[in-house]
Amino acid sequence: MNQPDSNSTKPTETVYGNLLQPIALGPTRVANRIFNPPHGTTLGSEGVVTNNLIAYHEARAKGGVGLIILEGMAFHPSFEFESAYLNAGRDSIIPGLKKLSRACREHGTAVFGQLYHAGRAVRSSHDGSKPLIYSPSDIPDERYRVVPRPMPNEMVWEVIDSYAKAAVRLVEADLDGVEILASMGYLIAQFLNPATNRREDEFGGSFENRLRFLRETVTQTRKAIGQGKTLGIRITLDEKTDTGLDADEVIKICSALEEDDVLDYFSVISGSSSSPAGWIHVFPPMAIPHAYVADDAARLKNAISKPVLVAGRINQPQTASEILSERKADMIGMARALIADPEFVNKVAQNKSDHIRACIGCNQACVGHRLTHHAISCIQNPRTGREQLFQNTQESQSTKTVMVIGGGPGGMKAAVTAAEHGHRVLLFEQQARLGGQVNLAELLPGRAEFGGVTTNLVHELERNSVDVCLNSTVSSETVNKFEPDAIIVATGAVTRLPEVEVNDVELVHAWSVIQRHKKIGQNVVIADWACDWTGLGVAHKLALEGHHVRLLSGASIPGESIPGIVRDQWIGELQSLNVELINFARFFGAQDRSVFFQHMINGEPIICENVDTIVSCYAPQSNKQYDWLFEPTGTHKQPTLIKVGDALAPRTVEEAVLDGFQAAWSLQ
Ligand SMILES: Cc1cc2nc3c(=O)[nH]c(=O)nc-3n(C[C@H](O)[C@H](O)[C@H](O)COP(=O)(O)O)c2cc1C
Ligand code: SF4
Repeated sequence: MNQPDSNSTKPTETVYGNLLQPIALGPTRVANRIFNPPHGTTLGSEGVVTNNLIAYHEARAKGGVGLIILEGMAFHPSFEFESAYLNAGRDSIIPGLKKLSRACREHGTAVFGQLYHAGRAVRSSHDGSKPLIYSPSDIPDERYRVVPRPMPNEMVWEVIDSYAKAAVRLVEADLDGVEILASMGYLIAQFLNPATNRREDEFGGSFENRLRFLRETVTQTRKAIGQGKTLGIRITLDEKTDTGLDADEVIKICSALEEDDVLDYFSVISGSSSSPAGWIHVFPPMAIPHAYVADDAARLKNAISKPVLVAGRINQPQTASEILSERKADMIGMARALIADPEFVNKVAQNKSDHIRACIGCNQACVGHRLTHHAISCIQNPRTGREQLFQNTQESQSTKTVMVIGGGPGGMKAAVTAAEHGHRVLLFEQQARLGGQVNLAELLPGRAEFGGVTTNLVHELERNSVDVCLNSTVSSETVNKFEPDAIIVATGAVTRLPEVEVNDVELVHAWSVIQRHKKIGQNVVIADWACDWTGLGVAHKLALEGHHVRLLSGASIPGESIPGIVRDQWIGELQSLNVELINFARFFGAQDRSVFFQHMINGEPIICENVDTIVSCYAPQSNKQYDWLFEPTGTHKQPTLIKVGDALAPRTVEEAVLDGFQAAWSLQ
């Protein structure tokens, strides 16, 4: 049982007091209404908990979250292909989990573990061969393009038994509860859904038969763990997939399970692994409205009496508080909001909600890292996933004067971090506005929330009393005047155009298009070397404005450099706007309104005719404006000099922020 943190502010004294009310989920008393939903971190190793994973969760527990539901854990040989998953099918999981749950409980946070079987939603194996995967029937999977083997009847019973045995391990590890993942098109949803379950045994056919796998799983798990621990399920009402489960049937399923009286809560989410469209909703990106799953949760809440939990793009206390006061759900899940700001709940409790570093739904360093098998992090918060490396911020022993040149995300992060360590910090920005390339990114269609990176950092600069000098360049006189101990150069990148011959067609850089600095003709060709957000975003913007757009990418797919989950949604948008997508295209030149590309594989020409404007998304180059600082002068005391972000080598906001943070941290 959990005790609320004795230091926390009383609910009645705070603006969003209803978020801080305790709640009982079966036998577990949770200190407040915010929970951290399960999310794969890739911080475990070989199936067991590591100190990095403990430090990650302890940071969120310390930040005041009431309940952490640990990432989906594998537990049966029919699904244990990737070492990135914790494995609750072996006793070796117990010692690490025990340490983790104790570390979190010290801060008053309850910990549950999620049991996860993906069924047919598996693409890779340990050794690179195609995995042998199991599902209720051999229905091909559209997203993973795999054909599963129908699970033999005896294996179905064995898997049910394994859920119960794995749950017992979680209880032995001192967790407060167990969640069964029955959502998002994974194994249990595959049993529930007539589109993926064509079985003729007791697990297929009628509603009762399709429900049997889930019902037996929760019943046997409850028997195994007893009444002293919480048991809940995660369920999807709207899979956002044509062949997905029907929401009315899901409500019927939950009502039937409630009558069985073995479950303590129902956690609602959207999306499915089984289709590209459904997958987008498993990690809803910034183009999807905030809190959009709350109405699904409300539908379920009207039908049942047990607590209903909800998650999905909830990143502000006001939104969370409204969901509770409108009685749409009983607890609010925040996965990415706490990845971005582990101190979210403490800030609410201290009436400092404006200090929250809101997640912007970019899916870059959290989902992006996870899906490429790297430890999760956050583009705004480089400490995430690196908690052991960067522990508590300490005031520096000696106060230094730090000059930061460049007010993009890297420079701002460096300035904030240096100020947090107690240094005197001056930030010089040449433009009238802070933000750097973020100011461009936020202008792309559906990407306005990206500007949150700047908003959050500007607030942090203000709170840390950084002296910000806008419209300011730095000269040797400036350096002599302030006599800095360190200068961090974060001047970003500048554009460059490809070195090809272009005659009779206007060639403009994508950044000018975004800033509306150039008039664009009707027929546009985008030469996309970078294959990132810019090419897709500019194509989207121009197509929405009525231009005829051809996007020629230097890769096998447009947007190849960015997480698929972001790219896929964009490609769908572009195709519905009739943007022509041509791949493997290397820009070669232009003459008489014809633009020439070379196919990168077969070398053949690709010719686009009747072109009015070519938009170039070519590699930017580091801004070398301040390279003179790095030349020894002998005239002034030589400060520590560090370049960060694109000034070092053009990359993305994530690396700029990480570099800026590390540079300032190194000054301690
Ligand atoms: C990196 C990452 C991994 C995830 N892994 C899981 C998982 O193992 N099990 C699960 O039920 N949901 C998983 N999710 C989905 C989250 O629990 C949550 O439903 C989703 O991120 C939407 O909530 P949010 O907007 O608060 O982030 C994952 C999400 C992220 C960002
Ligand atoms: S990387 Fe983006 S989506 Fe992920 S937590 Fe950070 S801000 Fe949110």
